[in-house]
Amino acid sequence: MTTTKSAEFFERSKRVSPGGVHSPVRSFRGVGGTPRFVESARGAEWLDVDGNRVVDFCMSWGPLMFGHQDPEILEAVKTALSRGWSYGTAEPYSLELAELITGALPWVEKVRFVNSGTEAVMSALRVARAATGRNRILKFDGCYHGHADSMLVRAGSGLAEMASPDSAGVSDGVAGETIVVPLNDLEAVEKVFQARGNEIAAVIVEPVPANNGLLTQKDQFLPKLMEIAHRNGSLVIFDEVITGFRVAFGGMAEHTGLKPDLVTYGKVIGGGFPVGAYGGRRDLMDLVAPAGPVYQAGTLSANPVAMSAGIAMLRKLQRDNPYSALRAKTETLANDLEIIAKQAGVLARVQRFASMFWIVFGGIKTSDGFVRAPEETPARQKELFAKGFHSLLNRGIYLSPSGYEVSFLSTAHTDGLIEKFLDAFRDTLKEPGWT
Ligand SMILES: Cc1ncc(COP(=O)(O)O)c(C=O)c1O
Repeated sequence: MTTTKSAEFFERSKRVSPGGVHSPVRSFRGVGGTPRFVESARGAEWLDVDGNRVVDFCMSWGPLMFGHQDPEILEAVKTALSRGWSYGTAEPYSLELAELITGALPWVEKVRFVNSGTEAVMSALRVARAATGRNRILKFDGCYHGHADSMLVRAGSGLAEMASPDSAGVSDGVAGETIVVPLNDLEAVEKVFQARGNEIAAVIVEPVPANNGLLTQKDQFLPKLMEIAHRNGSLVIFDEVITGFRVAFGGMAEHTGLKPDLVTYGKVIGGGFPVGAYGGRRDLMDLVAPAGPVYQAGTLSANPVAMSAGIAMLRKLQRDNPYSALRAKTETLANDLEIIAKQAGVLARVQRFASMFWIVFGGIKTSDGFVRAPEETPARQKELFAKGFHSLLNRGIYLSPSGYEVSFLSTAHTDGLIEKFLDAFRDTLKEPGWT
């Protein structure tokens, strides 16, 4: 595969944008090498500027449930464009999407649209603070909630501790209001609540942590977490930016039957256009301006083209209900990858949930053989994943470009394309250097 043009574009891009990209992981820093500059995409494949056709398992980091250029979403967007693309005033399209969501998801009594998952989280946290009169937020080590200052914090290992900033430019004061606890450790949560329960406005959690690998938690984790938080007068925010409309139409709230006080969405909700949303209990959402005192606004919020894409995406998901088929396809893919690894004598596990999967290379040392917290990831993951990533990419298979990111299946991933992935994986593992 030639990558001359991508390399040239990357060099030019580095001159005019930080790291040559507009979101860090796109730079391939986690795997080394040069990112591919994608010119167009259709179905489950993209074409880069050098003319290479590649099967895409990143799917824009999750939004594209039906693959690139789904005809129904495309049609909805074209129609919306022909009417105009930004009004800055009330319009019927956000009403339709809001009614669709509140009609289907009982825990979303009211919803506000924003432009990204980050904005959704930032705003939900503000509502939680206003509602409880408390300042602190409890989050988990290994959960990502976008780049709002208070969420950019690192955890202490083992016991819970107050967080220090994870990014330059975040003040100790803001970071200090966030308490970080380890995943898979409800005792740590209980201890934090015993010590500071009356200061914690909300617990925020990715109901399936999918931003530091796919760190699936045991079944009792979420219900017990909610019980502890509510017993202490704290709110519970499910950050369903990845899981919403992906693991089930109603995300993990539907999957578990649990009812968060507030919930955040992004990715799938906009059909691949920039949409985020936060919603939840009516009394909490009525705190938001202009109904209440919590200020939050946006010039381009509820953009009519993006709303139309979201409506088309959600209606198609409701009608086609692709969830069990996607789950089965992912299950088979993950099992087949593990069998190939076993036959090749390479230590690899494929953690999966719904239509998401994460390949873990190296020996997992936990008693049940699963990685459920960041520090349980094998030490050689970064190095081995990078090796596998490039070898697969050279064979036309694109995974999310980091050993700590998950990959996604869509309905556009046909059996033939999945077979291509399995063949490429088989050949990749024949290369030297895996042990
Ligand atoms: C769980 C979760 N929350 C929030 C965000 C931030 O969303 P955005 O990138 O749209 O700002 C992400 C992004 O990956 C996410 O996965």
